[in-house]
Amino acid sequence: MGMIIRPIEKNDIPTLAELAAKTYAETFGHSLTPELEETRSEKYFRSVIDTDTILLAIKNGRLAGYIQLSDVKIDVQGATPGLNDQAINAVYIHSDFQGQGIGKVLMDSAFDHPCFRKADNIFIDVWDENERAVQFYLKYGFEVVGKCDVTVDGKIVGRDLVLRRSAKKI
Ligand SMILES: CC(C)(COP(=O)(O)OP(=O)(O)OC[C@H]1O[C@@H](n2cnc3c(N)ncnc32)[C@H](O)[C@@H]1OP(=O)(O)O)[C@@H](O)C(=O)NCCC(=O)NCCS
Repeated sequence: MGMIIRPIEKNDIPTLAELAAKTYAETFGHSLTPELEETRSEKYFRSVIDTDTILLAIKNGRLAGYIQLSDVKIDVQGATPGLNDQAINAVYIHSDFQGQGIGKVLMDSAFDHPCFRKADNIFIDVWDENERAVQFYLKYGFEVVGKCDVTVDGKIVGRDLVLRRSAKKI
């Protein structure tokens, strides 16, 4: 069995929430707050499944990672998103599958998706200490354009770097 990229279905939510919570805890460790944890719960995914586009990477029958696309919700200080712009809300690869090119395949699938094909620019916000993710995005052609507050339930819980790339394929 090889790798499949497909849109999420409702019955994927428990497995997806488990992967998201685990990868999130490993990546952010001590800085993980209950508010942030909440954004990786089943309840959270049920609340975004109809508005956001979530693509799953299934490798040998196992959920290896996902990418979540949405309108730009971040309040960027440094670059104003345009009306057509879209965002990568999350891209997470299970630790068993990191460094095998799956992140890149998910990014390619996002840029091929109608959601992104109608956009001018794509935004991502990322914690500046998450060097691996920053390097991954820079390598994919994103550039740092500003900073933003990280808010959960209206509360500021941190600050992120904001990156932007043209939605056109390079
Ligand atoms: C960051 C992440 C999404 C990258 O996905 P991945 O599948 O591990 O990365 P890939 O194997 O597809 O690598 C793609 C490219 O990025 C580069 N890259 C990956 N990890 C890197 C690292 N630690 N340092 C430098 N470059 C790196 C690879 O060299 C590769 O380039 P190549 O195609 O020229 O070889 C993944 O590791 C992950 O989920 N990490 C934990 C969660 C996280 O931080 N998510 C992002 C939150 S904003």
